[in-house]
Amino acid sequence: MLARVFSCAILGLDGVIVDVEVDLANGLPGVIIVGLPDTAVQESRERVQSAIQNSGLLFPRKHVRVNLAPAAVRKEGPSYDLPIALGILAASEQIPADVLTDALVVGELSLDGSVRHVRGVLPMAALAVEKGYHRILVPAADAAEAALIPELEVIPIQDLTQLCAALNGNFPIPPQQQEIKAEHPAWELTDFREVKGQEHVKRALEIAAAGGHNILMIGPPGAGKTLLARALPAILPSMTIAEALDVTRIYSVADLLPKDVPLIQTRPFRAPHHTISHAGLVGGGNWPHPGEISLAHRGVLFLDELPEFSKQVLEVLRQPLEDKMVTISRARGSLTFPANFQLVAAMNPCPCG
Ligand SMILES: Nc1ncnc2c1ncn2[C@@H]1O[C@H](COP(=O)(O)OP(=O)(O)OP(=O)(O)O)[C@@H](O)[C@H]1O
Ligand SMILES: [Mg+2]
Repeated sequence: MLARVFSCAILGLDGVIVDVEVDLANGLPGVIIVGLPDTAVQESRERVQSAIQNSGLLFPRKHVRVNLAPAAVRKEGPSYDLPIALGILAASEQIPADVLTDALVVGELSLDGSVRHVRGVLPMAALAVEKGYHRILVPAADAAEAALIPELEVIPIQDLTQLCAALNGNFPIPPQQQEIKAEHPAWELTDFREVKGQEHVKRALEIAAAGGHNILMIGPPGAGKTLLARALPAILPSMTIAEALDVTRIYSVADLLPKDVPLIQTRPFRAPHHTISHAGLVGGGNWPHPGEISLAHRGVLFLDELPEFSKQVLEVLRQPLEDKMVTISRARGSLTFPANFQLVAAMNPCPCG
């Protein structure tokens, strides 16, 4: 018996639909996962088996083959646990096979069957709408984030038992309502009023904030450079909803979205330490992840003690500062991340302080 559930992989900041095909065949009991899975996906067979058994459902004593298509896209992370479990339950006729044809499913399972948070839910929900899916099944913790995308039914899942009951027609789960609250700041900002005096620097910062200019502050230790830079985001214009969604998408993929803040509405302020590597700054990795310049998109990138940064790290900033985006090329392909940030740097006039 063959079952098919649709899930999603994240490549850069975009989603790719992944077909999770599950086949139950006679043979030695066991689970085989194919389709370029990484270690976390391979380990999902253990989580799925325990979760199904601990939810009072039956794990079939058959040879289970799971194929994640397209096979060329690398699948990473634990977000395929839930679709694999549903595929196994559908293939073993414990849930109807046709209820998931217009839905995307993502979620990590814990051994007791509860569904855990996964990263990148916002781009997944955006992809679901783009590809014509009507519903997305996500962990309850991520439902508010997915609900930011209009015209999509977001079903928050607590655990496998609850989901199976709903799919079998009992106890349907009410969809998550879309709500954008204005009063949720993602992080604390330093108030501009805390800066005493320094009228000329404040004026310079106001002009930089109004025009989106980059700024370099040079001054002796204790002059208040760090304080002034930290106060800059508070006087920047507030973000539009489109800008907020842009920023939230990056934080969602980087798994840095603060808890209980589905939409980031405060401009980011990133202040990486000067020991940062160039991959950490512009993004990198085998399958590239966004770096500090992309996390500072639509906000401020603050390089404190500028001369302490290595020359190579400062050189890699040139092109993103010009183009407002960065393209990272690897042997397997290239990805583009947005990097439209305002650069604020501070330094002492002399290395001795
Ligand atoms: N104009 C000011 N108003 C209020 N507090 C200030 C002001 N200037 C400095 N401070 C306070 O003095 C301390 C030192 O300031 P800060 O760390 O910003 O200096 P800095 O110029 O970054 O020094 P360094 O070159 O050593 O990094 C901080 O606690 C800061 O809050
Ligand atoms: Mg300082």
